[in-house]
Amino acid sequence: MKSRLVVALDGPAGAGKGTVCRGVAARCGLLYLDTGAIYRAVALSSLEHGVEKDNVEALAEIARTMPFEFRLDGNGAWKAWLGERDVSQSLREEDVGQRASQVSALQPVRAALLEFQRGYGAGVDVVLDGRDVGTVVFPDADLKIFLTASLEERANRRVRELHQRGEPANLTRIREDMAQRDARDAGRKHAPLLPADDAIVVDTSSMTPEQAVDSVVQLVEEKR
Ligand code: DC
Repeated sequence: MKSRLVVALDGPAGAGKGTVCRGVAARCGLLYLDTGAIYRAVALSSLEHGVEKDNVEALAEIARTMPFEFRLDGNGAWKAWLGERDVSQSLREEDVGQRASQVSALQPVRAALLEFQRGYGAGVDVVLDGRDVGTVVFPDADLKIFLTASLEERANRRVRELHQRGEPANLTRIREDMAQRDARDAGRKHAPLLPADDAIVVDTSSMTPEQAVDSVVQLVEEKR
């Protein structure tokens, strides 16, 4: 029996991981897991409950027990739920992203979220995006991709995304926040943001979203 196909796609914030994974999942018939959303859910929950960013025990407890799940909505899109609330929008807030980067540096939090990621969609072909999917979560993934882009381009994309949503955006501030988050994610002791030795690096700086999806679809097809 052929085992399931696991595609691990890691990279920094704003490289286009979500867009690429959604496109690849739809075209190749894979289930998509946005692992960053799980760290963001821990962050959101901790902010809402007034848990300090260095209270390791309380943060790990949230990671172990939070009622987090993905559910399909009526339009066939996956939404993130915490208990009886659709938190998909709240998870994207800037302060939640910063807090997620902080809590994700804590080993007990990472350990608590590992099984959820490994067990997700058991038996089904999957694509997962994050920071350590190819290095820690699925070191034996069939295909590992490290998706990246220049800091300038990633910050510009974020500004465009916020403008499209009608939200204010300050490029300098966003660029600084991203650089800070990159440095924290890459410099942490546990599961730092790093391409796996056998990862294929795809730089999307000068690619359109469609070109980025096409290039990864091609890599997936070569593996099948
Ligand atoms: O991909 P994202 O921006 O939604 O991730 C939010 C934060 O979560 C990111 O700063 C680092 C952390 N993260 C992680 O440590 N490991 C993952 N597999 C995914 C995200």
